[in-house]
Amino acid sequence: MSRDSKTPVTGLEAIPAADRPPLQITFQSYHAMIAIGIGLIALSLLGCLLWWRGTLFENRLVLWLFVLSVLGPIAANELGWITAEVGRQPWIVQGLMRTSDGVSANLAGSQVVRSTGLFVMIYLLLFAVFVYVLNDQIQHGPESLEEQGPLVQLPERLREILEQPRAQG
Ligand code: HEM
Repeated sequence: MSRDSKTPVTGLEAIPAADRPPLQITFQSYHAMIAIGIGLIALSLLGCLLWWRGTLFENRLVLWLFVLSVLGPIAANELGWITAEVGRQPWIVQGLMRTSDGVSANLAGSQVVRSTGLFVMIYLLLFAVFVYVLNDQIQHGPESLEEQGPLVQLPERLREILEQPRAQG
């Protein structure tokens, strides 16, 4: 890539087949990430429009889409990461060192499988806690002004004071 708009972009066919990344995974994950990103922007705009019309909170379908959309950024994050990691193959350092040369010689495959399994379990656990806490927050709803304490109540109190009829003096 070049910052100059006149420089031609190097096509994939110019790169030796042995130096190309797995195309399908890179292409599909990149496009799925963008689709999710655009979908989330569209959903936000739709939410704004319905809110402006005053019908947002009666539209159960859109409210359900909001609930499900929580998973969107998580999926897009993973897909973006897959794009970056798979898309840079077969290099660990572009043009200098191949991923196959970065394999640790004194680490057994079984050790990698075990530690990866452990990471998967920890992240699944964190995900379950995330969904639990999120659901708990949604069920509980936002705190009332009283619950949020005096600092948050300050603008409201000031408005009440300012709106009080002035004493004649
Ligand atoms: C709206 C459309 C989007 C566009 C145009 C876009 C574009 C890109 C591009 C160009 C890359 C670099 C890929 C590479 O390494 O060559 C990337 C990576 C990434 N994107 Fe997206 N993206 C979008 C949406 C999203 C969303 C919604 C998320 C998450 C909420 C996301 C998360 C990521 C992550 C985590 C990476 C990997 C970063 C790294 O490890 O280097 N993207 N994206």
